[in-house]
Amino acid sequence: MKKQIGVIFGSRSCEREVAIISAVQLMRHINRETYDVIPVYVDEHGNWYTGEKLTEIGSYKPFNPNASGILRVFPDLSSGSGALLTVNKGSGLFAKEKVEIAARVDVYIVVMHGLNGEDGTLQGLLELANVPYTSTGVAGSAIGMDKIMMKQFFRGADLPVLPGVWFTRSAFESDRDAVIKKVGEELGYPVFVKPANLGSSIGVSRADDAESLADSLELAFDYDRRVLVEKGLDKPIELNCSVVGYDEETEASPIEMPINSDEFLDFRDKYLASGGSKGMASLHRVLPAPIEEDLKNEIQELSRTIFRLLDCKGVVRIDYMFDRIGGKLYITEINTIPGSLAFYLWVNAGVSYTKLIDRMIGYAEKAHEDKNRANYAYTSDILNGVSFGAKGSKGSKGAKTAK
Ligand SMILES: Nc1ncnc2c1ncn2[C@@H]1O[C@H](COP(=O)(O)OP(=O)(O)O)[C@@H](O)[C@H]1O
Ligand SMILES: [Mg+2]
Repeated sequence: MKKQIGVIFGSRSCEREVAIISAVQLMRHINRETYDVIPVYVDEHGNWYTGEKLTEIGSYKPFNPNASGILRVFPDLSSGSGALLTVNKGSGLFAKEKVEIAARVDVYIVVMHGLNGEDGTLQGLLELANVPYTSTGVAGSAIGMDKIMMKQFFRGADLPVLPGVWFTRSAFESDRDAVIKKVGEELGYPVFVKPANLGSSIGVSRADDAESLADSLELAFDYDRRVLVEKGLDKPIELNCSVVGYDEETEASPIEMPINSDEFLDFRDKYLASGGSKGMASLHRVLPAPIEEDLKNEIQELSRTIFRLLDCKGVVRIDYMFDRIGGKLYITEINTIPGSLAFYLWVNAGVSYTKLIDRMIGYAEKAHEDKNRANYAYTSDILNGVSFGAKGSKGSKGAKTAK
């Protein structure tokens, strides 16, 4: 039997639509001779659906959960089951509802961008379910999603990041002037203001003075409870590099130089450059980036280091800014599930998308094997020696163990 590959995408995230494009694109390139594809769409309410129809972009304009061929499913979390369950209403007045298995997934390809999917939450669920999946694990995904923690992490590893300060919404609401003063004192202008847990440039803006900073903060706090304010570079050269691998195996891609329309790379630049049909692959870019060999090597080396530090798995993309004035390179961020899975960078390296997907699945299986090699079976006879006495009886203060 062919391997059953669940492609899970969507979710309660501002970037759900971007994920739909990334997923449909991926499903068009996966090798159907070796794999059966089971699309699993998570809608904006967090409901899970499957059905062949979900491989077509037309099914999302708009999404209709009641359309024929679309089935609501629930993940079975029993360790190793991989089952997607469905509830069938029996017919007749007294018929019972019946739970049936709609599909069994051998490996999940996670195509989620942003919260509730790229941030370690879905990864945690799949770890519990003990099913192989293609993305970075829980801790790496969580740190990679949170721009405040990510900066601390990179700084702690002595990697180059721009100075920044961060605030909570409650601090901003209780004393706006103090927040604005702190930014002026510690960073000066311009600054970039970013919601901690977003992507695709949503809620990101540049502020050139105290007045526009107040607007930028308001915008960012609309999206998140915590906001990062970062020292701004003036028209930096942006350079992105993908890494594919797992464990000791890491390979860095050619480097792209995205081209933006004005101040910085916004949502429009990223996804709407060619009418929006190609997701991140539609961005205007120079590939490979016209940079010196030394800088290229530095970026590729740094990218592989970051991949290992965050214990990444599958395909990630790490973004940089090169400051023309200071001649220095800074890490912008890591995307643990990049738009379009960064396939276009690998195509430039001579790796087809179909091959890239094969590799992602291979790493998922390897990681799962490694995890299950670890010993969970340690048992002792500790429970045999435990007695709590009668329930509610006086004087029983917790368990006594015969040590
Ligand atoms: N400190 C900065 N200086 C100059 N431009 C920046 C800075 N931070 C972000 N940008 C611009 O904003 C874009 C989005 O920022 P980024 O941190 O990558 O957020 P997102 O996760 O939304 O992509 C970057 O690609 C870049 O164009
Ligand atoms: Mg970015």
